[in-house]
Amino acid sequence: MSKQTPQTAKLTVPQLVAKKEAGEKITIVTAYDFTMAKLFDEAGIDSIMIGDSLGVVVQGRDNTLGVTLDHMIYHCHCVAMGAKRAHLIGDMPFMSYQASKEDAVRSCGQVLKRGKVDAVKMEGGEEIAEIVNAVVQLGIPVMGHVGLTPQHIKQMGGYKVQGRGEKAAKKILSDAKAIAQAGAYAIVLEGIPTELGKKISESIEIPTIGIGSGPHCDGQVLVCYDLLGMFTEFKPKFVKHFANLGVAVHAAIKDYIREVKSGSFPDEAHSYKDA
Ligand code: KIV
Repeated sequence: MSKQTPQTAKLTVPQLVAKKEAGEKITIVTAYDFTMAKLFDEAGIDSIMIGDSLGVVVQGRDNTLGVTLDHMIYHCHCVAMGAKRAHLIGDMPFMSYQASKEDAVRSCGQVLKRGKVDAVKMEGGEEIAEIVNAVVQLGIPVMGHVGLTPQHIKQMGGYKVQGRGEKAAKKILSDAKAIAQAGAYAIVLEGIPTELGKKISESIEIPTIGIGSGPHCDGQVLVCYDLLGMFTEFKPKFVKHFANLGVAVHAAIKDYIREVKSGSFPDEAHSYKDA
């Protein structure tokens, strides 16, 4: 498909992967519900990720560790109802896949089947390569995720840039290679220096999807509330607000309160007549 042809059918895994070879950047945004998913899908996004970031931006937790498989399946299904064309990736929550290949296969199968997504995402490097391979062998496409992996928050001691220095960079490069070797079709690189993002992108055949990893990755992903300027609790350096919807929502709600209190809403135009 040429860069100019609008995609109207569902974007498949091979089509997404082919974008790297074609030199076309892959666009991904997170969503957690029907309305946002429909808007993003209609705007032409390549892929929507139902991230376990929902634990923070939807559920109000401090981190993603408390998100359950049922939460993920519920939100994946909501998004699948709204997105007809975008490739859908369901994030695997903490401890739904790490303990054994059996756990991973069952959990990923549930997210794919009941969540109606096209692929799943798992955080981790060499230590989960065999698990990734077991899931891929059964026909479930897996996106990897290395670098700053939020499910390792307790170990990392905070959301800190990873892979600084030669030894740490080497480890993340070999993690990415192990996950690609295990059969993942793409991999998220989160919170690593630009040069390392470039090196990994040049070293593996599958597309790299950057978030806080510089401009050389094969695609980018952002959390939708960050992108839209709605989540303002904290703003990492890599986040760009492409809109200021937080301010717009605030103003709209203030107008609504004022009009209801003053009696100017609902007016005749927004009320039913008898016949
Ligand atoms: O949970 C999430 O939303 C993610 C992406 C931001 C990569 O993992």
